[in-house]
This record gives sequence, C-alpha cells and structure tokens, in this order.
Amino acid sequence: MKLAQQVIKEELSLFESYFKDSVKSRVALLDRIMQYIVKRKGKQLRPMFVLLSAKLCGGITDSTYRAASLVELLHTATLVHDDVVDEAMERRGFFSINALWKNKVAVLVGDYLLSKGLLLSLNNDDFLILKKLSEAVRLMSEGELLQIEKSRNLNLDESIYFDIINGKTASLLASACAAGACSTTTDEAIIEKMRLFGEKVGLAFQIKDDLFDYGTANVGKPTGNDIKEKKLTLPLIYTLNNCDAITRKKIIYIVKNNNNNKEKVAWVISEVNKLGGIDYATQKMLALRDEALAILNTFEQSVVTQALEELVRYTTDRKF
Ligand code: IPE
Ligand code: IPE
Ligand code: MG
Ligand code: MG
Repeated sequence: MKLAQQVIKEELSLFESYFKDSVKSRVALLDRIMQYIVKRKGKQLRPMFVLLSAKLCGGITDSTYRAASLVELLHTATLVHDDVVDEAMERRGFFSINALWKNKVAVLVGDYLLSKGLLLSLNNDDFLILKKLSEAVRLMSEGELLQIEKSRNLNLDESIYFDIINGKTASLLASACAAGACSTTTDEAIIEKMRLFGEKVGLAFQIKDDLFDYGTANVGKPTGNDIKEKKLTLPLIYTLNNCDAITRKKIIYIVKNNNNNKEKVAWVISEVNKLGGIDYATQKMLALRDEALAILNTFEQSVVTQALEELVRYTTDRKF
C-alpha cells in the first residue's frame, strides 16, 4: 500500500483527525471506548478509497473528508455489531468491544457510531452523500439478515452467496467510491462508474475474507468460524455442488450436527482444499479484481490510478 499511502499521506492524517474529533463524548465510559477504537484502528481501506476516488474525479474537498469519516464510522459501527452477532471475541488483533464491555454496551456503541456518522453529514448538508451511505447501511443490514436466514437451511446457491456479500460488504465499498466521486463532481456517469468499481472491489474483498476463514494464518480475528456458524461461503458451496453424493451427505451432516467438533470440521476443510473449493473461490476473486482494474483502466493513467490499482491488488493479496 506504499504508493497509495504516499499519494494521500497528508489527506489521510487529516481524515484521522476528523474521525477522532467526530467520536468524542462527554460520557466517560463512551469516551474510553472511543479512545480504544481510535487506537486499535484497522487498515482504513474504505477512507483510502474515498480519498483516492475523489482525487481521481476532480480533487479532494472538505466534503471528501466528511465522506471518508462517515464511511469509516459506519464500517466501525457494523464491525462492533457484527462481533455481537457472530459472538466473536477478537477484532484487529485484540479483544472485541463485546469481549471487553459485553453485548449491551457493544450494541449501544454501534448505535452511537452510526448516529455520529449521520450527524456529521447532516450538520454539513451532505445530503447526497448521506443518501448513498444510508442506502449502503440498509443493504448491509439486509445482507447480514439474509445470511442468518440462509444459514438456517444451509444455502448451496452461489447466486445467493453473492447477494449476501454484495449486501453485507460490497455495498459499503461501492458507496465509498461513489461518495468520493460525489464529493467532487456532479457527473452521474463518473459517479456510477466509481460505484461499480467499488462494488467489484468489495466482492473480491469479502471472498478474500471468506478464504481467510479456511486458513490457519493469524489475521487478527477468529478463523474457522464460518462452518461453526453454518455459514456456507464460496469454497464450501462450490465443493458441495461438485462432489459425489456420499461426500456431500457427510459434509452436510457435519455442518449441521458436528460443527463444534474440531477434528470433523478440519476434515471438511481438507475436503474443500482437495476438491478445489479454495482454488475456485480464488479464481472468482481474481476475476472480480480484474473487472475492477478494467474499470480503472478507462481513466487516463496517473499516479492516482496507480495508487488505486495498488489498493485493489492489496485487497486480494493482503495477509490480514
Ligand atoms: C472487515 O473489514 C469486515 C469485512 C467486511 C470482512 P476490514 O478487514 O476492512 O476491517 P478493518 O477495518 O481493517 O479492521
Ligand atoms: C463482515 O462479515 C462484516 C460486515 C460486513 C458487517 P463477517 O462476519 O464475515 O466479517 P468478519 O470476519 O467478522 O470481519
Ligand atoms: Mg464476523
Ligand atoms: Mg458476520
């Protein structure tokens, strides 16, 4: 990410101070938690996409910084809530909010972050950007709920998997890129092009995240969780649709009845590897990456398109 960080070095640090200022609270407990969140920041990919998209489409404005902060506030809110939903005790290499302060606090902290994002936009009349991001929040909630609905009757349908990840992850990256563009241009065709670009990146991003779950590397959050939660992701969906009937029956039985048995889940993971599920998902991810890069190539080459290309490649090559 070197080039991207270099191209928007000052802008990123300005964003960070915007973000920090926007979460201050007079309630001591809340302020302590906000300091914890600011300190344990993530990769900040979404704000980088907002800033670079704006730079590509005209130039960074005051409203770009607010868009970047809004996107990161919403992202953080959904992560805090997601860890409650997934009962995950680790996030960004450390304890999750629910692990340290329990679910009650985590739910309210997520709401607080959401409200701070809304107010940041409303107080500055960023209505268009707020509309785009509110749409993303709706899609994310729907995506997470569709995922729960489908885990109850084990979804084997690849197109439903894509609906889920489109909602829960790609929608925010799509809106981030569109909002970046929107903060600097009124050209609808360009804004739509950036939205589509972000959507492709977001889909590839979530496939990568789902691949992490099948690995053993330390990625700063729990792995091996998806089968435990009966969450069928692309590697397993492909495997189940392309294996013999007996293997399929065995895998489904384990996902339904032995999803807490480490050895049996390890066997499922080894089958997914052996039968090409990991390779298949990797190919799909790379194809989406290339679609995103093709959109980027319709812009005149510059250091900004290069930085965005680097960020897209990072999305699928990253180690955490
Ligand atoms: C994690 O997103 C949530 C998913 C959509 C998979 P990131 O991996 O971008 O999270 P941070 O902000 O860097 O921790
Ligand atoms: C992604 O869902 C988080 C959201 C988009 C809300 P996951 O549950 O798959 O992501 P991680 O692995 O916890 O980050
Ligand atoms: Mg989760
Ligand atoms: Mg989840």
